[in-house]
Amino acid sequence: MKNHKRMFKGILVSVLLSLSALPAAWAQYPDKPVTLVVPFAAGGPSDKIARDLAEALRKPLGQTVIVDNTAGAGGTIGAARVARAKADGYTLLVHHIGLATAPALYKKLPYDTLKDFEYLGLINEAPSVLIGRTTLAANNLAELRKWIADSEGRVNLANAGVGSASHLCGLMLQGALKSKMVAVPYKGTAPAMTDLIGGQVDLMCEQATNAVPQIEGKKVKVYGVSSKERLNLPSLAQTPTLAEAGLADFNVTVWHGVYAPRGTPPEVLAKLNAALREALKDPDLIKRQEALGLRLVTDARLSASGHKAYVQAEMARWGKVIKDSGETAE
Ligand code: MLT
Repeated sequence: MKNHKRMFKGILVSVLLSLSALPAAWAQYPDKPVTLVVPFAAGGPSDKIARDLAEALRKPLGQTVIVDNTAGAGGTIGAARVARAKADGYTLLVHHIGLATAPALYKKLPYDTLKDFEYLGLINEAPSVLIGRTTLAANNLAELRKWIADSEGRVNLANAGVGSASHLCGLMLQGALKSKMVAVPYKGTAPAMTDLIGGQVDLMCEQATNAVPQIEGKKVKVYGVSSKERLNLPSLAQTPTLAEAGLADFNVTVWHGVYAPRGTPPEVLAKLNAALREALKDPDLIKRQEALGLRLVTDARLSASGHKAYVQAEMARWGKVIKDSGETAE
């Protein structure tokens, strides 16, 4: 009996010692490179945002930050990878509005948007723009509407898969135009942009982040901005919003946020949120992102609770729109 007691005491002491050592263990975080998982193909808007952020996080984290593209299924494959990842702060997710729309589109999602992630902060917002191949005759939305109506459903619209931002904007567009188009899905809008520039697809509703350089380079035509306000860029000052151009109340803005797996220690989450706030003050990052039409978040949505509350509200807003549209991934 005495032996059992001694043994139990020994085990208890070692457990208590290891528990008390935990905060100290996280004090070293991060002591190896941190990975940002992007759920879309390299070269697209989410990838650009993540690579800019990785650059700006290096200093506040004092560690290398690498970007890893895990694309497919409108972003749900990359999100699932992080939901299953070790909760140690070394695998994070950079994802957008798709995290809020996927629950309404996919019957069986391999993760729970609100339960399986720790929310680290919303980082930016960007309007999308409706762009088309340069060989289209239409030069404004009115002419484009006529061409679409005359083309009786043969118009093809590129997107980055069901649940992506380009898919959501495309869905809103078809609803506003009362016209069904042929969806052409890609693993991201980077490969879709290549085909649009090459004339293989007709239209895409793409985030300004990726579209602005192609519009400025006259590689694509532009028909309108998806948000309530025009893009605050000299090259696009004359481009109307889709609402101004005739699609009343059209309003889609794409936001990006950062997430960690559920159960990541509070000490690590606090360090990551502090580093994120620091990174978003980086003048180079601000300059680069604003030149692409992005607005960096500086309000309460930069906090974990503010971020989560915003995503919950977006889930409700888009959940209803998607349900009313009858669109599903299956
Ligand atoms: C991308 O980075 O490819 C986009 O964010 C895709 C999309 O959601 O449209």
